[in-house]
Amino acid sequence: MATRLSPVLNRIDSTLDDAVARLLDLLAIPSISTDPAYKADCARAADWLVADLATIGVKAETIATPGHPMVMGHVDGPAGQDTPHLVFYGHYDVQPVDPLSLWNNDPFAPAVEATAKGKVIRGRGSSDDKGQLMTFVEACRAWVAEHGQLPCEITFFFEGEEESGSPSLVPFMKEYKDRLKGDVALICDTGLFGHDTPAIVTMLRGLMGEEIVIKAADKDLHSGMYGGPAQNPIRVLTRILAGLHDDQGRVTLDGFYDGVPELPADVAAQWEALGFDHEAFLGEVDLNLPAGEKDRSALEMIWSRPTMEFNGITGGYTGDGFKTVLPAQASAKVSARLVGTQDPHKIRESLRAYVEANLPADCTVEFHPHGASPASVMETSHPAFEAARNALSDEWPNEAAFVGCGGSIPIAGYFKKIVGVDALLAGFGRDDDAIHSPNEKYDLECFHKGIRSWARILDAVSTQTKG
Ligand code: BES
Ligand code: ZN
Repeated sequence: MATRLSPVLNRIDSTLDDAVARLLDLLAIPSISTDPAYKADCARAADWLVADLATIGVKAETIATPGHPMVMGHVDGPAGQDTPHLVFYGHYDVQPVDPLSLWNNDPFAPAVEATAKGKVIRGRGSSDDKGQLMTFVEACRAWVAEHGQLPCEITFFFEGEEESGSPSLVPFMKEYKDRLKGDVALICDTGLFGHDTPAIVTMLRGLMGEEIVIKAADKDLHSGMYGGPAQNPIRVLTRILAGLHDDQGRVTLDGFYDGVPELPADVAAQWEALGFDHEAFLGEVDLNLPAGEKDRSALEMIWSRPTMEFNGITGGYTGDGFKTVLPAQASAKVSARLVGTQDPHKIRESLRAYVEANLPADCTVEFHPHGASPASVMETSHPAFEAARNALSDEWPNEAAFVGCGGSIPIAGYFKKIVGVDALLAGFGRDDDAIHSPNEKYDLECFHKGIRSWARILDAVSTQTKG
């Protein structure tokens, strides 16, 4: 129904500057969920969203959790019409900014910047996920401004712990199941496929995060006095970590590949047809040769194979200059991306058992868990998928594709498992957005077309029948 959509799209175009100003305001709040020092800022971001939703007529509240607050808002659909109930999810927390020295500007002094490739919104969270979250809110704002109300019943659900493994999410969703039970869930936390191809993500990898701390002597020691007879936790840790992969790039852990399926032939053929440019993908970050499992393509490795990666490692003296020290402890943050029915808890147990079995005398180990979410595969038969695919294809130069995603969004599978609702993942990030990295950006074009995309999806999906 182009007649009710066109004025919304026109309004989005003519008010883009205001939408950007609001996003910059939200981006200025350093809502880093993993670092307790930013707890108050996370609460401030949640409050900001509640206040912003109020400006478009959505009654919203923050709901406390053992971690950071959830934001929930709701509006009824037009009276007397049997419209579907949509549940929209995004996350307001962001990743830490370190290494700060690699940022060209303060990560929380966001700005629109002109670059050789066009205008970008620069700042931590611009793409992951505040900018994306706001594409939906801005589409709703334009709709309300034009039509006085939203086209269907909508529940807004924003999380503040996604970047730290969503520890409060499962109990929360169980408790608030009734409020989250829409006809379909919409998630905006993924990217485009290529520069101009919109994408609906149908498979996401899961994640198991674990911190391993190995301790030996009761204090740091002089390496000349004790080096040799005393255990060195860095040597112990690196030997243990090195044993986790074989020379074919496979993970050696007992039972690691239990539940890892081979890619069905039809999915393999569909991915092949996407024409993914492996060389360009690595070339963009100054790499040439694929690492990882020797017999797998890069796309397969990212979308449908599990990995075990080391995200951080510390121990001993890492300051300027040099210190001949034998450290008392060393630690590593390790994460596994999971596919199929791999069980994050079993893999954690297997990792712990392997570390303990390889620990020499005089060393102790502590483990700290950081999230466990299984992989998820979306059911795409709900008519909202076809409607959204067409709506996205109308907005972007290329047709929308169904794709996989190497990243993890814990809620993606929980919507189906806990609430019984299919989740439709559409997002507008680009590969060069530098999410989780220094100088994160969101292309102004993606923000703009992302808002327009949601307006089109709202138009198409809100006229579908309930259920
Ligand atoms: N937006 C990302 C997920 C994503 C990553 C989408 C890459 C598209 C491409 C999300 O915010 C994220 O980073 N998730 C974490 C979750 C983890 C901490 C449980 C991830 O994947 O590391
Ligand atoms: Zn992220």
